[in-house]
Amino acid sequence: MNVHDSDRMRRMILDAGYAEVPRYEDADIVILNTCYVRENAVDRVRGHLGELTRLKRSGRLKKVALTGCIGAAEESETLRRQFGIDLVLGTHNTYELAEFVGLPTMEETYTPELPGTEGGHSAFVTIMTGCNYRCSYCIVPTVRGRMVCRSKESILSEVDRLVEGGTGYVTLLGQTVDAWRQDGERFCDLLEAVSERAPRVWFTTSHPSNMEDRTLRAIGERETIVKRLHLPVQSGSDRMLKIMHRGYKAERYRRKIEVFREAAPGGTLSTDIIVGHPGETEEDHEATLKLVEDCQFDSAYVFKFSPRDGTEAANIGGVVSQEVAQKRFVEVLRAVEGNAFRRNRAKIGAVEDVYVRHGANEEGRAIGETWSGHAVHLKTGAVPGSYVRARVGSAGPHVLYAEPIR
Ligand code: 5AD
Ligand code: SF4
Repeated sequence: MNVHDSDRMRRMILDAGYAEVPRYEDADIVILNTCYVRENAVDRVRGHLGELTRLKRSGRLKKVALTGCIGAAEESETLRRQFGIDLVLGTHNTYELAEFVGLPTMEETYTPELPGTEGGHSAFVTIMTGCNYRCSYCIVPTVRGRMVCRSKESILSEVDRLVEGGTGYVTLLGQTVDAWRQDGERFCDLLEAVSERAPRVWFTTSHPSNMEDRTLRAIGERETIVKRLHLPVQSGSDRMLKIMHRGYKAERYRRKIEVFREAAPGGTLSTDIIVGHPGETEEDHEATLKLVEDCQFDSAYVFKFSPRDGTEAANIGGVVSQEVAQKRFVEVLRAVEGNAFRRNRAKIGAVEDVYVRHGANEEGRAIGETWSGHAVHLKTGAVPGSYVRARVGSAGPHVLYAEPIR
């Protein structure tokens, strides 16, 4: 989501006649687009702001803007004063950036309808913003607001425009993308429509409570949908899921995964897991490890709980010590990697049509993705957006290594 928001801002700035430079030292304007979901993101932004303040004092840099979720949080006012930031924007008023960079004032525009950079081989399309859940630990509903679904008409016309412009891979985006709905239509209806228009489709991030079996089956059945599901579970313990207000039990999650595995047997499954949430006992942690074994994730983002001001979990008892959280973090990560490595090794020898995402680096190695959603490293000069037929030669816990077939 942040990458896509940055893309929209990049587009505005390029339209205003600016060029993009790789180093702060060469810039007139710096726009820091930020994440607020965990404290380490904020720490990093502070570091950048310190460096930018020095460049501004030396007269090299003229203006600094802070955008994104930190911009939407109360903390941005403190940062603005401390670092003398010139413009602070939240996540809903990106259009205000136009004036800041010397473009004519734009009419108030619904941010998801601002175009991103076009002509790319792959593109994000925002279908909903915000979130109607209230997970105990999460700052997203505070900084991104309640759910707003973009109209199907507007989404499909953007998809058509992108595909006509040469985009071969469309990713539908939303905080709870599968919660999308409009006039009796639900996410699966939209996904099916998009899968008929775009040659390659994926979507993220889903919520288990919104995920319909119909959608899981569509992933398996529809040729243009990448067979990869990202479904954050957060914990394997029903007690924790309740404290977190996730709205489902571990058993229900397991059932969803069964449907997915059956619908897309060779597909890939990833998740998000939080360890060390207040109140988490050793027994809860064991339940998470058990769920990891049962679901055999192909990858997982594991996070240590980070207290966010303004969320329920920041003020409840049962704080888990850093040492315990670290131990649980490593255990969950190891369990995930063990399974992922085993599953990846089972792919050795397979012949796949690999979509090239990033062209060759200095060593000639490109990064691609199979239809099953596996990340692949391969030696090829093929341009991003093209397909290369390749045989998987070896595997690590995170990627497959393949050789193109001539
Ligand atoms: N602490 C740790 N992880 C968090 N996440 C969200 N909020 C927090 C927090 N306060 C994780 C969740 C979510 C992912 C995007 O970030 O796992 O799915
Ligand atoms: Fe945050 Fe996702 Fe929960 Fe919404 S559903 S509050 S975005 S973790």
